[in-house]
Amino acid sequence: MKKEWSFVLGLLGILLQLFLLAESSLKKQNVSKKNSQQDQQDFPPVQILRLDDDYVAVDNGIFNITFSIPGGMVTGIQYNEIDNLLENGNKDDNRGYWDLVWNKPEEKGIFDKLRATNFKVIMEDENQVELSFTRTWDSLDSKQLSMNIDKRFIILRGISGFYCYGILERLEGWPNIDVYQGRIVFKLKETLFQYMAISDERQRIMPTAHDREVGQKLDYKEAVLLTNPNNSFIKGEVDDKYQYSCENKDNRVHGWISQTPRIGFWMITPSDEFRTGGPVKQDLTSHTGPVNLNMFFSTHYAGEVLGLKFRNGEPWKKVFGPVFVYMNSLSPDEPDTLTLWTDAKEQMLVETENWPYNFPLSEDYARADQRGLVSGRLLVRDRYVNKSPMIANSAFVGLAAPGNVGSWQLENKAYQFWTQTDSEGYFLIKNIIPGNYSLYAWVPGFVGDYMYDPYIIVAPGSRKRLETLMYYAPRNGPTLWEIGTPDRTAAEFFIPDAQPKLLNQLYVVHNQERYRQYGLWDRYTEIYPDDDLVFTIGFSNYQTDWFFAHLNRYFYNDDGNKTYAPTTWQVLFDLEDVDQSSNYTLQLALASAHEAELQVRFNDPEIDAPHYSTGLIGKDNAIARHGIHGIYRLYTINVPGSLLGFGTNIMYLTQSRGDRPFRGLMYDYIRLEGPSDENN
Ligand SMILES: *[C@@H]1O[C@H](CO)[C@@H](O)[C@H](O)[C@H]1NC(C)=O
Ligand SMILES: *[C@@H]1O[C@H](CO)[C@@H](O)[C@H](O)[C@H]1NC(C)=O
Ligand SMILES: *[C@@H]1O[C@H](CO)[C@@H](O)[C@H](O)[C@H]1NC(C)=O
Ligand SMILES: *[C@@H]1O[C@H](CO)[C@@H](O)[C@H](O)[C@H]1NC(C)=O
Ligand SMILES: *[C@@H]1O[C@H](CO)[C@@H](O)[C@H](O)[C@H]1NC(C)=O
Ligand SMILES: *[C@@H]1O[C@H](CO)[C@@H](O)[C@H](O)[C@H]1NC(C)=O
Repeated sequence: MKKEWSFVLGLLGILLQLFLLAESSLKKQNVSKKNSQQDQQDFPPVQILRLDDDYVAVDNGIFNITFSIPGGMVTGIQYNEIDNLLENGNKDDNRGYWDLVWNKPEEKGIFDKLRATNFKVIMEDENQVELSFTRTWDSLDSKQLSMNIDKRFIILRGISGFYCYGILERLEGWPNIDVYQGRIVFKLKETLFQYMAISDERQRIMPTAHDREVGQKLDYKEAVLLTNPNNSFIKGEVDDKYQYSCENKDNRVHGWISQTPRIGFWMITPSDEFRTGGPVKQDLTSHTGPVNLNMFFSTHYAGEVLGLKFRNGEPWKKVFGPVFVYMNSLSPDEPDTLTLWTDAKEQMLVETENWPYNFPLSEDYARADQRGLVSGRLLVRDRYVNKSPMIANSAFVGLAAPGNVGSWQLENKAYQFWTQTDSEGYFLIKNIIPGNYSLYAWVPGFVGDYMYDPYIIVAPGSRKRLETLMYYAPRNGPTLWEIGTPDRTAAEFFIPDAQPKLLNQLYVVHNQERYRQYGLWDRYTEIYPDDDLVFTIGFSNYQTDWFFAHLNRYFYNDDGNKTYAPTTWQVLFDLEDVDQSSNYTLQLALASAHEAELQVRFNDPEIDAPHYSTGLIGKDNAIARHGIHGIYRLYTINVPGSLLGFGTNIMYLTQSRGDRPFRGLMYDYIRLEGPSDENN
């Protein structure tokens, strides 16, 4: 029955995709691209239009954009004969704005739209306009965010879009605060934008905000079952903005398409140097509203540890952006709407190529000639895999603030610069803002994290070539068995189909990312109704037999209330030969943890004190938010041989914190190593 259902739904999904493709028969593209340098002069000059005391507009002949003064809210964008691409129905400060979530320690969170108090024209000529909206901290206003803010906007001649960047600054001695989120938001006109695209595979017709209001709230407010959408085509699907999250490294272009007229509105992020938490930190993109975001920093998929905590009056200054808001259009007789997406991707490449930009005028934005370069080669050593050093292929190598091994995951006040090694292990990190960094790396296929010992001082214009670096991957003895692959995600494990009544059709069609379906946390209980998971080494297959998340089991208590209880998984393995006087090693890598505790016991499930416990860990909420990973953790656990025996052994893995559906773990990789063989 279950199988048949998913088959029918799969077919429906394919039909949906065919329908979308038919709508956009892949014809030759003819997007009105107004961006090449040489014909820039063919376009009208950029002009500032001083409308009245409350508003200023900038027009470059392709579009014009209106700001409130001095607040610096984007209140209107006229483009392609549309009076406003933003939602006119919203108030002035609820269309295009920056915001920050912050609080004083131990106090309630404040949502601050960073309304500026001063407006200044930084530059105005026929080729470029740069505007600045600032707010300087008023120390007498006890309620105000203790930060100086400068929101900048740049409009260039002949360019179909505008650049946004912001400089946030705290001076020495300012009061303690915590800052949890910073972003730019655009709320687009609902009647225009109904199709959203965030990658080649992840794009679809979206519900309206009203569809969500009349829908049925699910386990948390962000997830809604569309019971009565205006467009009956999407009836019965789940909408949840977290289904459209993306890793920093892939979050480079996303946005919305309007069918009539044919217009695209895109957020392009040419560099993620200013984002926090490193290249695989996940965050929101676009979602129902229609909303288009640029998340500069947040605690999503990581927890409060990623909040910026300012203490002891430490000074801080950081430039976020520029990011590029791009608009494109097609003539009405061109049927291929998806050309707008293709064109937006091309524009993303153009912007990336132009990075670092040479036109932003803030002195705080480091231009190309002020930036440095670090190059080198990374090898990896694991003598039980290979006696010689191996090439670290496609390894992630990055510079982030000085810290400890792996600390880049939680680093959030400075800039990070990441790249991947080539097939020979070489890397080149370009465009590094001068500063004091540590070099960090990790290598897919190997557990753990690398850190280069000396600090790396990047001076303006410097080019630094490092010696060949060697990563000694954690390893104590030969592999006795392993589960999964060390890649920092749980994506290779068994991911169930969603409940048929809680689907997002997008992830039925695009099945590889079905972990983004809503409600998978309850599927564990449904697939293992009586007994918990048992995995037998040499017999079970991690792709089909290892559930992607270690979840709680639900049941209904006497009051009929749904309750969640801890579960214990078993790994059965045979040992033909045990050296009970030696130590074995369990390498246990977690891809995610949320308010969880993992207890490990060998051959005695009842023993009170577990042989190993992680203690309470994690706040990354990746189960509820459909991430396939959150913060990475590696535990190298000593297993005295005396705990093991000849023949069948059982390792019991207990996630001991029940109570809620979203508490649990995701494993990345588990390996049992035999005693070290020094002669190997
Ligand atoms: C495609 O673009 C070219 C050059 O801008 C223009 O001359 C032509 O009319 C366009 N074709 C259509 C079908 O709009
Ligand atoms: C903005 O541009 C549109 C067309 O591009 C034009 O019709 C309109 O008058 C402009 N608005 C302002 C305020 O200049
Ligand atoms: C609802 O659907 C009708 C027809 O399909 C359409 O004309 C209307 O604009 C839609 N309303 C909204 C809010 O999308
Ligand atoms: C770089 O940072 C480290 C760690 O904070 C510090 O110990 C070191 O003195 C710094 N080096 C320079 C040159 O600032
Ligand atoms: C059962 O759930 C209801 C509604 O949420 C709640 O009011 C009640 O206290 C719960 N009972 C128990 C025993 O948890
Ligand atoms: C095994 O590990 C324990 C605890 O770390 C240590 O005290 C002991 O010396 C180790 N035994 C051997 C044979 O290495």
